[in-house]
Amino acid sequence: MSDVTLPPGPRFAPLQSFRFLRDTPRFFRECRSRYGDPFTAPLPMGNVVITGHPEGIRDIFGASPSVFEPLSNLSLAPVLGDNSVLLLGDPRHKRERKLLMPPFHGERMRTYGGLMQDLTLQSAAALRPESPFDAQRLTQDISLAVIIHAIFGVEEPERVRRFRDVIVAYLESYSPSLMMLVPLRRSFGGVGPWSRFQRHAAELDALLTEQIALRRGHEGSHTDILSLLLSARDENGQPMTDVELKDELRTLLLAGHETSAIGMAWGLYWTHRLPQVKQKLMEELAPLGPVPDPDALARLPYLSAVCDESLRLHPVVTLVSRRTRAPWTLRGRQLPPGTGVMAAISLVHADPELYPEPELFRPERFLDRRFSPFEYLPFGGGARRCLGAAFALSEMRIVLGSLLAAHRFELTENGPVRPVRRNITFGPEGGVKMVYKGPALGATS
Ligand code: HEM
Repeated sequence: MSDVTLPPGPRFAPLQSFRFLRDTPRFFRECRSRYGDPFTAPLPMGNVVITGHPEGIRDIFGASPSVFEPLSNLSLAPVLGDNSVLLLGDPRHKRERKLLMPPFHGERMRTYGGLMQDLTLQSAAALRPESPFDAQRLTQDISLAVIIHAIFGVEEPERVRRFRDVIVAYLESYSPSLMMLVPLRRSFGGVGPWSRFQRHAAELDALLTEQIALRRGHEGSHTDILSLLLSARDENGQPMTDVELKDELRTLLLAGHETSAIGMAWGLYWTHRLPQVKQKLMEELAPLGPVPDPDALARLPYLSAVCDESLRLHPVVTLVSRRTRAPWTLRGRQLPPGTGVMAAISLVHADPELYPEPELFRPERFLDRRFSPFEYLPFGGGARRCLGAAFALSEMRIVLGSLLAAHRFELTENGPVRPVRRNITFGPEGGVKMVYKGPALGATS
C-alpha cells in the first residue's frame, strides 16, 4: 500500500505514536488544524486515516459491514479471547452480534432497574459521614456489582465476593505493559507479569465454567444475561459453546465495567461542580422521594441530559477504529484495502458548529435539539455500535439519580479535573475526590 493515495498528515511514526498515546484528543485537534479532515497519522497499528467530521462519520457508520474488519486485536486479545465480538470480522461478527443483541434490547433494561438501584444503595451504605472518598471508585464498585449480578447471574453473597476478588485481581494483572508489549507475553519460569496474569485468568475461567454449569438447564427461570445467552440459538439452531460464552462474558465485563463507571463519575463531578446543574437536577428528583422508582429515573429528561452531556464532554472512548477490506471512499477520497480508519469521537463532540462553547458542561443542549448518530456518538455506530448502550444509559441514570436522591455529597476541591488515558479508556485524572455529607434530608441512612 502506498502513502501517496492517503490524505496528508504528520510523519515519523515513533513521535506521532507517542503524541497519540499521551493525549489523543489533543493530538487529533492539532493534526486536524494543520492538515484538514480527513488526515493520516502513522500510529502503532500502521497508517490510519482519521476523520472527526459528521460526513466522514456517516461514511464509516453507513458502510456495508463487509467493508471493514477490526483494526487491531493485539492489545486486547489475551483478556477477551479469540471468540470475542469485539475482535471478530464478518461473517462471525454478524453471527455473534445476533446472539448477543436480544438480551440488551432497550425494553429489557427495565428488568435490571431495581437491581441496579439496590446495588447502588448497598455500595453507598459503606460511606461514613464527613469521610472523603473517590467517586470513581464508588461507581466502579457499583458497575462491577451490576455486572456480576445482572450479567453473570451470581446471587449468593459469598460467591459474589469471590467473583469480585478474582475479577479485580485479573483486571489489575493485565498491566499496560502487557497490553502494549507483545514480547512480554511469555512465561519466565512461572514468574513475571504474564505468569501472574495467566494464574488470575485461570481462576476467572474456572468460576465462569462453574457459573455456566449452574445455570445450564435452569436458564428459563432466570433473567440474567448469561441465562438468556444460554437459550440463544444461531440461524443453524446452534447454541454458543462454553468457550464462546466465556469469551463473551469476559468481553461484556471489559467493555462494560470501567466505561460506565467513568461516565457516572463525570456525572457526579459536574453536578457538584456546577450549582445550577445540581439545583435543576434536585428539583426534578424531589417529587420522586428518597428512593425513586427506577423506571421513573430512567425517563427523567434533565437527568438523561446530564448523562448525555457527561459522555459528550468527556467521551470515555475517544475513537472507534476499523480496517478496510476492500477499496472504499471516505469524504470523496479513495482508500485502498488494508487502510486503518478512525472516527474521532472527541473531535466531533468538540465541534463548535454542533455544540456552541463546546468546552462548557451544558446539559440543556440535549433538551434544545436532537443530534444525529454522526454528531453524537459516545457508543460508536454502524454495524459495531456498542451492544451495551441501553444498559449503560439506564445504569448511569439509575445510579446517579439514586445516589443524589438518597445522599448528600460535596467535592473536596472545586478545581478542574482533566481526562487522562487509562489503558483504552479516558477518565478523570486522579479520580473524583468527594466528601460524603450524610443521607439526604428526609431519607434514612
Ligand atoms: C458509558 C458506557 C459505555 C461506553 C461509552 C461504551 C462505548 C463503546 C464504544 C465506543 C464501542 C465501539 C463501537 C464501534 O466500534 O463503533 C463499544 C463496543 C461495545 N460495547 Fe460498549 N460502551 C459502554 C458500556 C458498555 C456496556 C455496559 C456493555 C455491556 C455490558 C458494553 C458492551 C459492548 C460490546 C459487546 C461492544 C462490541 C460491539 C461490537 O463490536 O459489535 N458497553 N462500546
